[in-house]
Amino acid sequence: MKANLIIAIGTFSILTIGCTRQQEKEAKIEEKIDALLKQMTFEEKIGQMSQLNSNGNVADYKELIKAGKIGSFLNEINPATINEMQRIAMEESRLKIPILFARDVIHGFKTIFPIPLAQAATWNPLIVEEGGRVAAVEATEVGIRWTFAPMLDITRDPRWGRIAESLGEDPYLASVLGAAMVRGFQGNDLAEPTSMAACMKHFAGYGFVEGGRDYNTTMIPEVVLREVVLPPFKAAVDAGVATAMSSFNEINGVPSTGNSFLLRKVLREEWNFKGFVVSDWASVAEMIVHGYCADEKEAAMKAANAGLDMEMVTPLYAKHLDSLVKEGKVSMKTIDEAVRNILRIKFKLGLFDNPYVKIPQTSKIYSKSHLAAAKEAAIQSAVLLKNEKNLLPLGNQVKSIAIIGPLADAPSDQLGTWTLDGDKNYTQTPLKAIQAEYSNKLNIIYEPTLGYSRDIDGSNFSKAVAAARRADVVLMFLGEESILSGEARCRAEINLPGIQSQLVEEVKKAGKPIVLIIMAGRPLTIEKECILADAVLYAWHPGTMGGPAIADLLFGKAVPSGKLPVTFPKTVGQIPIYYNHKNTGRPPHENLQLIGSIPPGAKQLTMGYVSYYLDAGADPLFPFGYGLSYTTFEYTNLQLSKTELNNPDEITVTCQLKNTGKYEADEIVQLYVRDRVGSLTRPVKELKGFQRIRLKPQESKTVTFTLKTEDLAFWNADMKKVTEPGDFDVWIGPNSKDGLKGSFKVLP
Ligand code: NOJ
Repeated sequence: MKANLIIAIGTFSILTIGCTRQQEKEAKIEEKIDALLKQMTFEEKIGQMSQLNSNGNVADYKELIKAGKIGSFLNEINPATINEMQRIAMEESRLKIPILFARDVIHGFKTIFPIPLAQAATWNPLIVEEGGRVAAVEATEVGIRWTFAPMLDITRDPRWGRIAESLGEDPYLASVLGAAMVRGFQGNDLAEPTSMAACMKHFAGYGFVEGGRDYNTTMIPEVVLREVVLPPFKAAVDAGVATAMSSFNEINGVPSTGNSFLLRKVLREEWNFKGFVVSDWASVAEMIVHGYCADEKEAAMKAANAGLDMEMVTPLYAKHLDSLVKEGKVSMKTIDEAVRNILRIKFKLGLFDNPYVKIPQTSKIYSKSHLAAAKEAAIQSAVLLKNEKNLLPLGNQVKSIAIIGPLADAPSDQLGTWTLDGDKNYTQTPLKAIQAEYSNKLNIIYEPTLGYSRDIDGSNFSKAVAAARRADVVLMFLGEESILSGEARCRAEINLPGIQSQLVEEVKKAGKPIVLIIMAGRPLTIEKECILADAVLYAWHPGTMGGPAIADLLFGKAVPSGKLPVTFPKTVGQIPIYYNHKNTGRPPHENLQLIGSIPPGAKQLTMGYVSYYLDAGADPLFPFGYGLSYTTFEYTNLQLSKTELNNPDEITVTCQLKNTGKYEADEIVQLYVRDRVGSLTRPVKELKGFQRIRLKPQESKTVTFTLKTEDLAFWNADMKKVTEPGDFDVWIGPNSKDGLKGSFKVLP
C-alpha cells in the first residue's frame, strides 16, 4: 500500500513537472511572439498570412522575401532553392522570420504507401502512423516541414474522386486512424528535424458534396455535422495537429473559407485549437464565384473575420487587408491573432533556430526499411472479397498461371492519386514481383490484353483467352488508372472502365479458375465480375510495394486481413449507401420483392411497402467492415459485465475468438452498438471499437472491449452531447452485418 502510494505520488510529480515544463515552453513561445508582433509592420504581418506557389525561381521572390512578404511557399522541393529562399529570409529580411515550406505529401513522399482509403482498410493505427513517419522522414530530407494531410473528410459517395484520399465512411475509424497519421507526420516533437506539421483537411463537410461531384455544394444539418463530419477533426486536434485547411465547399450556404461557425466557434472556442488555418487553393477568391462575396475585398474581409489565418496562392489578403483594417472592417486584433497562430507553429517547428535543410549523409528515401513498411501496409490493406473453394492461396499444384489485364504491370497507376514525388521507376509491380519470385517454379504467361484501364481495343481478347486456356489459374489485374480517382476525378459510373468487364466474360470462357485483383481508388460496382470470378482480392492503389505485397498474398506468404472502410454498392443508384444509416419507419425485410418477381399487370396493393430498390434490393454488394481471410474465425460466448449501467458508468463486452482454420492470421474484431430509442433517432449500428488480433491455427482468445456511457452519447436537438437512458444493443463481430448480439440498459 505504502509502495503504491509512493509510486502514485512519484508519477503525479513527474506528470506535474512535465506539465509545467510544457507550459513554460509554450509561455516562452508566446513571449517571443509578443516581442515579434511589437516589431512587425503591417505589411510584414500580412506577409506571414500569405502563401505562394513556388515556380522554383528564387530571383522572382527575392525582393518579396526580403520585405517579409511571404510566410510560406508550397510546392518547392529543391533543397538548394529552399535553403537560398530561407537564407534571404534569415539574413536579408528585417525580422528574420523563417519561411515554412509545404507540399502535398499525402501517402508517402518518394516511397509511396497505399492510398489513404487503402490504409484505412488495414484498421491498423500503427501501420497508418508508420506511413506518416516514413513520409515525414523522406519529405523533411528535402526541406518540407508542412504537409497538407491527413484528409479527414467522411464520405458516403464513391463517385467522389477524393474518396481515395479519405479514411472511409465511418467517423470512429477515421478518428482513430487520422490521429495516428497526425502522430506519424509530426513525430514526438515538432521541433525534430524529421517532423512535419500536419494539416487536417478539408474543414469541413467536403466529403458530402452533392452527387459526389467535386467542389460541389453541401447541405449538412448541424447534428450530422457534429455526429459524422466533425469527429475525425476533433480527434486530430486532440492529437495535436498543427494546422487545418478550410474546404472548397459551402455548407448550408456559407463557404467554409468564410465560415466563422466552423473556424471560430467550433475550432477555436469549442476545441481550443492552437494551430493555424490555411485556405485551400484560391478558396478565398472562390467565395466570389460561390456568390458569397461581391468582390476580392469582401472575400478578404469575410475570410479574415471568419478566422482564416493564411491565404493559399491568391493575393487578396496582401491587396486588401490594409484598407480593410483602416476602414475598421477587420480589426488589428484579428490580424495579430492570425499572425500569432502562424508564428506559434513556426516556433514549435524549431524553424527560428534551425531554418535550413541539412541533406543527410545517408538518405532514407526508398530505404529498405521504408520499402518494407510500405509493403506491410499494402499487405494489410488488401481485402479478400471472395475465395470460392479456397482457390487462394495458390498452392504447389498450380504449375502455370496466366497474368492478364492492364494493371498487372502499371508502375505509375498502382501508386494512386497524389503522388507528386513518387518515382514510378521504383515501383514494384505484381507482374515483376511474381516473375522475380516464381518464374523458376511456375510457367508464367503474361497477356496484358488492354493497354490501360479505359482501353476499348478488344483485338487482343483472343490472346487472353488462349493464355487462360494454357494456364491452371488466371490472375486478372483490373481496375482504374490512378488518374481516374483523386481531386476532380469523379465518376458518374463506378464500374470497371473500358471493356474490362467484357474481358472477364471472355476469359471465363476458357473455363479456368479466375482470381480478380482489383486496383482502384474507390469502391467499384463489380457485382457481375465477382460472380464470374472464383476469388477477388481488392488491392486498391497499393503504392510502391504493391507488387510484392500482392504476390505474397496470392501465394500464401501473407494472409489477407484488410476489411472494407467503406460500403460497396452493387450499383451507382444505391448511393448513398452506408452502414450507419437510420432505420426509417419501413425498414426492408428479408423477402423483398425484386423486379423480376413482379408478375405483369401486378396491382399496386400487392407490393411490399418498405424502403428498398426494386432492381437492387436493400443490401450493398459488400458491407462496411467486410473482409475474408484464408483461415476462418469463430465468434462465441458474448458476455456483458453487467446489463444495467448508471451514468456515468462503463461496461465490459467480451467474446471468444477462435482461429478455426489452417493459417496464422489477423482478424479485425469490431464492436458496434445501437441506441434503440433516442430523442433524435439513432443509426441502426455505430462502430465503437475494433482490435486487430493475431491467432495461430486453433488458438483462441478472449477479446475485451470497454464501453463507457460517454461513448454512447450523441448530439441532441439542443446541440448538447448527451447519453440518454434506455435500451442498447451491442454486437461483436467480423463486419457491420454479422456478429454476436447482446443488450444492456442505461438507467435514468
Ligand atoms: C487543392 C486540394 O484541395 C488540397 O487538398 C491541396 O492540399 C491543395 N490543393 C494544395 O495543393
